[in-house]
Amino acid sequence: MCWATSQRLSAASPDFYALAIARGCSMKLVTAIIKPFKLEEVRSALTDLGLQGMTVTEVKGYGRQKGHTEIYRGAEYAVSFLPKIKIEVVVAAGQVDKAIEAISKAAKTGQIGDGKIFVSTIEHTVRIRTGETDETAL
Ligand SMILES: Nc1ncnc2c1ncn2[C@@H]1O[C@H](COP(=O)(O)OP(=O)(O)OP(=O)(O)O)[C@@H](O)[C@H]1O
Ligand SMILES: [Mg+2]
Repeated sequence: MCWATSQRLSAASPDFYALAIARGCSMKLVTAIIKPFKLEEVRSALTDLGLQGMTVTEVKGYGRQKGHTEIYRGAEYAVSFLPKIKIEVVVAAGQVDKAIEAISKAAKTGQIGDGKIFVSTIEHTVRIRTGETDETAL
């Protein structure tokens, strides 16, 4: 719907602001970097929300501790990449808050390295088999 709206708006008016708003209203990509042993718990929590698809990738990364469990003031460190799991789930914009809450709750241990969640806007989705688009294609 939002893709169509933005197409219509861009045809009717070059108003960039209106176009940006229209585009921002559709779907969001929620990318979560989590501890690998939390994958099943997070997957289950997202499924409980009714989300039907996700992409999971084994990744390596580091955050503020640069992959170390302790940090000493002034000490120089080599960076260590730690194994993490990246979960990507595209949701209707109205479901973003629930998805963030579910991931946060399921992935949290309270220890360093619990991970991060990034949210970005998806402009257009196509379900290949049926040709459905945007939110109905999720
Ligand atoms: N700014 C960032 N950009 C991209 N990926 C990041 C970023 N920060 C963290 N990550 C990814 O998230 C993983 C987990 O980060 P982590 O939870 O250690 O963040 P942190 O800021 O160090 O928080 P904490 O102090 O709780 O450990 C990293 O291994 C990395 O893959
Ligand atoms: Mg960290």
